[in-house]
Amino acid sequence: MLKETFKYYKRKCPPPSLKELIDFSSKDSTENYATSCLGQINNSVGLTPSSEWKIFQLEDKPGFIFISNPFTSIGQRYWICRCVKHYTRKPNRLNLDVHGDIKDGDWWTQCQNDYEQGSKLMEKLRWATLGYHHNWDTKVYKESDRDPFPEDLAALSKQVASIVGFPQFSAEAAIVNYYHMDSTLSCHTDHSELNLDAPLLSYSFGQSAIFLLGGRSKEEKPLAIRIDSGDIVIMSGESRHYYHGIPLIMPAKQSSWNLKANEEFSDEFLRPISLMENPEILDSMHQELQNDKLWEPFEKYISTSRINMNVRQVLPFGQSSL
Ligand code: OGA
Ligand code: MN
Repeated sequence: MLKETFKYYKRKCPPPSLKELIDFSSKDSTENYATSCLGQINNSVGLTPSSEWKIFQLEDKPGFIFISNPFTSIGQRYWICRCVKHYTRKPNRLNLDVHGDIKDGDWWTQCQNDYEQGSKLMEKLRWATLGYHHNWDTKVYKESDRDPFPEDLAALSKQVASIVGFPQFSAEAAIVNYYHMDSTLSCHTDHSELNLDAPLLSYSFGQSAIFLLGGRSKEEKPLAIRIDSGDIVIMSGESRHYYHGIPLIMPAKQSSWNLKANEEFSDEFLRPISLMENPEILDSMHQELQNDKLWEPFEKYISTSRINMNVRQVLPFGQSSL
């Protein structure tokens, strides 16, 4: 069932009907789903106040939680910039590492500076792993394959998880997926983590996607859910074990990462950024996120890409190593 639905939405000719696509951003489709605000914490990692969030759950997918874009525009720009410019550097690992294409360990700068090969190199990036590095072959995490997890992403995840009822959540591993308009992600379950009681947090930016959410078995008919820039998907409890995948990337309805007139880098937003390892990064980001000329390379990238940060807790609660 899962395979057929995946093929259906992937199909180019004729294109799939989107009639059954669940679109949480449109009011009509929310009527069948319970809307609830599960927490009241205020945020400063690029998030709007949680009292304004639209949080959804699905009756027959227990533990699945959808938060309809809770980010400010500048918050979205912040995370886009972090994903392409900083999380692609060491000690994080990239799919490109084995090819030897990146000379000085700085993929983004090399893409910008190499007029001949830059756009090719840009297309080649598919994933980065942070913290405990995901092993794509064995699917087993190892203590010897662990690097520090970015503090800002850990802080964001702690806040989001607390709001939906997981105050103990600790971000220890992440996969950042970089999609182009023709990319897909085949259906899978995420079961490498020792702790499947902890939720999995998934943040998406840039172009939109169809997310298929099945069940524990591949035979179950999946739901198709639209994911737009800024949306957060949380798989907890029962749904943490469910098959899911991305059959289609679609053009964004709007570029919600582009600044609203009255929005700027407020002091409140600066506080969590100062958690960052390197204060120089903060200074240059100030410029890049707010100055349209400096934002241009990021805009160019994100106008044909989707970024997904998939954050996991690996260890049992209270444990600090494997
Ligand atoms: C993953 C994943 C979904 C997405 O990386 O394991 O399921 O929305 N990503 O890109
Ligand atoms: Mn997954």
